[in-house]
Amino acid sequence: MRALIFGASGQIGVPLVARLRDAGWAVDAVSRTAREPSPGITWHRGSLDAMPAVPQAFDAIFSCGPLDGFARWYRGAPVECARVVAFGSTSAAVKHDSPDAAERDVAARLAGAETTLFETAAQRGAAVTVLRPTLVYGAGRDATLTRIASLARRRRVFPLPRGATGLRQPVHVDDLADAAFACIDNAAAAGRSYDVPGGETLAYREMVARVLACLQPPARLLELPQPMFSLALRGAALMGIGAGLGDAAVARMREDLVFDTGPAARDLGYAPRPFRPQPGMFEPPR
Ligand SMILES: NC(=O)c1ccc[n+]([C@@H]2O[C@H](COP(=O)([O-])OP(=O)(O)OC[C@H]3O[C@@H](n4cnc5c(N)ncnc54)[C@H](OP(=O)(O)O)[C@@H]3O)[C@@H](O)[C@H]2O)c1
Repeated sequence: MRALIFGASGQIGVPLVARLRDAGWAVDAVSRTAREPSPGITWHRGSLDAMPAVPQAFDAIFSCGPLDGFARWYRGAPVECARVVAFGSTSAAVKHDSPDAAERDVAARLAGAETTLFETAAQRGAAVTVLRPTLVYGAGRDATLTRIASLARRRRVFPLPRGATGLRQPVHVDDLADAAFACIDNAAAAGRSYDVPGGETLAYREMVARVLACLQPPARLLELPQPMFSLALRGAALMGIGAGLGDAAVARMREDLVFDTGPAARDLGYAPRPFRPQPGMFEPPR
């Protein structure tokens, strides 16, 4: 069996490739960076916008990179493949009515890409499944919890605004790789999108507190009144820290972002782990 993977070098792509290799698949992977060959994987240097020459037929195609680029490529690609599994994001639902125009744009692109994928697959008689993760962690490469851990390691303290009690469901990269792998040969998942949240629902402040507590040595959570937090954030921005944490993201810390594991559990046997952080999960790979 042969698979084509986009994003094979990414935090979800790496464990997915491992599962495919263990199951005896030959993997063709596209990367924008030249990479050393390794057993079972053929790297092709290129990108979704500048595709290298790859074989024309696969048993499965996986997208673990940007969904909009993948949907565009798939629409025009001369490739034969009956099974496509692509990662999207719950951001499509969370950010569609954000006060931040850039966030609304992200949501619109994700939703548009899903539509394009399903339309293209229907024309080709292929089966597509889209998996929408919540907040991803586990490989020391995510932009939220690993970033928090990295700042906290340096300063021994991490500030949050008081009232950061919105519910979250952090999801481990290995559980997402399992979900993608479970889509292969799964007729029930054809033509469907699934939310794939983590296995525990907890308050934002509790999620951060657990990360800080697992560090060696542990760091302290400092809860500040909103005006003080805004001031601290402005100071951090001047030092080049806290980029990407806009007003909309701060306001969302009070909002519940909760998704149902039920459909993925029923169709894919999806059983994500509870949130039990270990220090190694937030250390960037060497
Ligand atoms: N991180 C999260 O919290 C989160 C949450 C919800 C959904 N998701 C979704 O899950 C998927 C995977 O996310 P991730 O966090 O694992 O990503 P990641 O670690 O940032 O990896 C993304 C991969 O995409 C590849 N890529 C980027 N641009 C590309 C292009 N133009 N052409 C070809 N490949 C390209 C990169 O490969 P090379 O560098 O080797 O080219 C990279 O390995 C994405 O669809 C993301 O939107 C992530």
